[in-house]
Amino acid sequence: MLMNNELFPITMKKINGNWEIGGISISHLAEKYETPLYILDKKTLINQARRYINSWSTHSHIPFKVLFAVKALPILEVIRIFDKERLNFLVSTAGELYITRKAGINPKKIYFHGNAKTIKELEYAIEEDIYAIIVDNFDEVEKIKFLTKKKNREINVLIRIIPNIEVNTHKSIRTGQIDTKFGLPIDDVLSLISSLKNEPFIKFKGIHSHIGSQIYDLNAYIKLSEVLIKVGLEIIKEIGINLEEMSIGGGLGIAYTPQDMPPSIEDLAKFVSESFKKNFPYSFTLICEPGRSLVGRAGITLYRVESRKNINVRNYVAVDGGMSDNIRPTLYGAKYTALFLNEYNEKKLFRLVGKHCESGDILIQEVEAPWPNLGDLVVILSTGAYNFSMFNWYNAVLRPAVIMVEDGKEYIVVEREKFEDLVRGQK
Ligand code: LLP
Repeated sequence: MLMNNELFPITMKKINGNWEIGGISISHLAEKYETPLYILDKKTLINQARRYINSWSTHSHIPFKVLFAVKALPILEVIRIFDKERLNFLVSTAGELYITRKAGINPKKIYFHGNAKTIKELEYAIEEDIYAIIVDNFDEVEKIKFLTKKKNREINVLIRIIPNIEVNTHKSIRTGQIDTKFGLPIDDVLSLISSLKNEPFIKFKGIHSHIGSQIYDLNAYIKLSEVLIKVGLEIIKEIGINLEEMSIGGGLGIAYTPQDMPPSIEDLAKFVSESFKKNFPYSFTLICEPGRSLVGRAGITLYRVESRKNINVRNYVAVDGGMSDNIRPTLYGAKYTALFLNEYNEKKLFRLVGKHCESGDILIQEVEAPWPNLGDLVVILSTGAYNFSMFNWYNAVLRPAVIMVEDGKEYIVVEREKFEDLVRGQK
């Protein structure tokens, strides 16, 4: 396999023929905790957080905040690690807000976005006294007006614009184009902001955007900064209202295969801050909201081979997990890289599939690897983002445990589900 370093968690390496992560043998983890197993490398999590913080502070003299998009990996321990690294947090539902608060996060470090927040969710956010709600639509403003008046509480808001930027990523994870369910057209945003001028409980803080996910083209972010600058100038000059914050959203892509060469966190910070520095002469705080690029590389999933077959047209290898713990190939045609820990046989071409009762349950369409033996261990790389969080229950499989590794030690951060969990709440 081509070694693209960005593909492996930082501490994952082969030593004397044995694969390790966080200084621990991967096969030892499989024996101790069983498979399928999600494994997270703490060093990689910390490293990615520091890269974000350092690159924004070195490349820009603009005050900035890095928000971890909790949806990518909503795990208490991960949130606590990022809190220590001085990140802020972005939640998209009351559930994510609950998890984030449960991790002990100061509510003033939390932003809440989403296109269909319920009155209950908004009430919870206002009661928790979070830092800001990112408003998506006019109906939401009415809900917030009603709640803040009822509770006699102020709330900060940012407003999400549709920047009208197409990015080259899967259509289900594009969000900045003209036809999208997220945000409002710029003219509507401007009139909404004017209308908030005299609202006693709603404090306008700034504008928000997010153009999509798994983005490789930094030009899209430069174009986005230009749109934000234009809208920002209009808000200050035409509406005459203060603008404290602007968000470029998340979306930076990561490597899933050896061929993938994603842009760097450092270049994102450099290009975006240069664009703002050149064209926006007012002071404000720049926000970015990474999810995938903070956690994706830190995670791997460990499986065991459960069956193999050669049918006339193809070879198949099936493992003990699949579309429940990783829906992304099925949903987006996402590509992944598999690593077979035992490499004793000659290589073959085969399809790597899961154990679920659906033909679409394919982890990798075509793998070329040593033909495995029954019970062999397989690692899928880059599974830290949107694998655990998109876990689904199909075929009543148990959600795998999540193990954190660091410096030769490991600890459970999420326990494996048990059979009782499968009927929890059922009568
Ligand atoms: N900010 C907003 C407003 C978002 O909606 C998202 C993700 C992010 C930030 C973080 O984006 P990231 O840096 O992780 O790309 N389930 C899909 C990804 C959906 C992303 C949704 N929004 C997947 O597995 O590819």
